[in-house]
Formats: sequence, C-alpha cells, structure tokens
Amino acid sequence: MTTAATPVWDEEVATAVRRLTAAAENDYYNPYQTFDWPERIPEGALWMSEDLLTVHGTAAAAELDREQYLALSKWESINFYSLNVHGIRELLQEVVQRIHAPGYEIPTPFFHHFLGEENEHMWFFAEFCLRYGGRLFPNRAMAFPAEKHSAMLDNFIVFSRILIFEQIVDHFNSRMAADAALPETIRAINRVHHQDESRHIAFGAQLVRALWERLRESGDERELATARQYVQKYLASSIQQLYSVEAYRDAGIPDPFAFRAKVVADPARSAVHASITARTDTFYRRIGVFEQRTV
Ligand SMILES: [Fe+2]
Ligand SMILES: [Fe+2]
Repeated sequence: MTTAATPVWDEEVATAVRRLTAAAENDYYNPYQTFDWPERIPEGALWMSEDLLTVHGTAAAAELDREQYLALSKWESINFYSLNVHGIRELLQEVVQRIHAPGYEIPTPFFHHFLGEENEHMWFFAEFCLRYGGRLFPNRAMAFPAEKHSAMLDNFIVFSRILIFEQIVDHFNSRMAADAALPETIRAINRVHHQDESRHIAFGAQLVRALWERLRESGDERELATARQYVQKYLASSIQQLYSVEAYRDAGIPDPFAFRAKVVADPARSAVHASITARTDTFYRRIGVFEQRTV
C-alpha cells in the first residue's frame, strides 16, 4: 500500500486517527446493557419517521389504509436495520483484511475501535429485527467489482463504500433519534448509533480524501474515471435498496412489485433522494471527485 516516495496516509490522516481513537476510548460504553428491550413495540405505533418512509410525498401513499401505512413503517424500519446488519458484515470483512497488514500502520489503531463498535452495532440492529420483526430481510447489496484495479483504487472503492453507507444511514439515524413520534427503543438505537458513527464518518472521510489525492497524483485517467463512476453507481444502488419488495409485501400491499415500481418513479422522490445523498455529494465535490457546482 505504501511506497517510499509517497506514503498514502498523510499527516492529516494521522492527526484524525489520534483524535478519534482518544474520543472512542472516552466514549466507550457497554451496548449489551445500554438498551431496554420491551416485550413489544406498542400496537399502532409509527416505527419510522413519516418523512423517511418511501411513500412519503407520493401519489401511491393514498392507496394505503391506516393499517397498511403503519405496517409499512414497521417493515421499512426492519428493512433499514437489516440493511445495516448486511452492510456492517461487509465492512467488517474489508477492515479485518487490512488491520495490522503492511501499509495500514497509521489507520490501524482506529480500526480496532471501528471493528469493536461495528460488531456491537450489528448485534443491536439484528437484535431489533429478530425481536420485533422475527427475521432479517435478505441482503440485496451491490456486488463488489469483479475486475482488479490498483491497490489504491481498490482501497478508494472499499473506503468509499463504507463512508457512503455510513453517511446515508446517519441521515436516517439523526432524524429518527430526534423524532418524538417514535417509541423510545427506536429513538435510542438510532441515537446511540449516530454518536459512534460521527467518529467513523470523520475517519472514513480522511481515508477517502487521502486515497483520492494519491490517485490523482498517479495521473491514471482511466482509474480516476472508474472511481468517479463507482461512487455514482454505489449511491444509486444504495437508494434503490430503501425500496423493499419484502416491506411492501409484509405491509399487505397486494402487488408489491408494481407498487415498488410506482413509488420509486414518483416525481416527488427525486428531491428526497437528493436530500438523502446531499452530505455524500457535498463531500465528493469538496475533495474534487465530483465537479464543483457553478452556481
Ligand atoms: Fe455502525
Ligand atoms: Fe460505522
């Protein structure tokens, strides 16, 4: 990963690792004793903030009766935590492959916190799904690219996937942690996750920035184009995964495939998608992966 001439991880990365490692040590908690797990989530409760539901703002929302609407909030909530479990398993595998491997000496101290905390997140998200939904929804994540790139581009792709995943999840976590309409258990898991993720996102942003700078210095236009396309493709596929056929089916919607197609294409959803990806978009513009807006 590291060459003598250009170390990949610069001083800015090293400083962030020191700061975030100290913060993780100070904020350490026992997740297994943090949450109350009530017997059930109250009947008739909203399980997800209304403006985060995939039917929000769409014409198809009017097709749902109150019972289906509340059931959809439950199953979209289960879908969201299932996405977290699958996303975390994937990122754990990637970070495990890199911790204490040559070239990763600088980020490794924080990798320990990252792995420990993500294992705990995976536990509480799965616990929620299994206790209150009886199962996890299947993994529909986009496959990793089959073609091999330079180690630098592979790393850019891996850490971009982790960062984008965490930024999108955090959009949901921050909203639900603050939503007084939701049951306390739901608010609490979103709140606790949001607190840990603020460190992970700051860390990931430094890794991705440094990797992009080194890629740009290499001057390989093909790799730069692949990196850009990959980020766009991954963002689009992350949005698609929010629209779950399983959730529509479990909410009692008669033709869940047709319903999904209708909702995802509703013109009202473009502005919502833009707000979900706004933080990622701003970040990739700032570091120069996407073009700056000329407004
Ligand atoms: Fe997490
Ligand atoms: Fe994380």
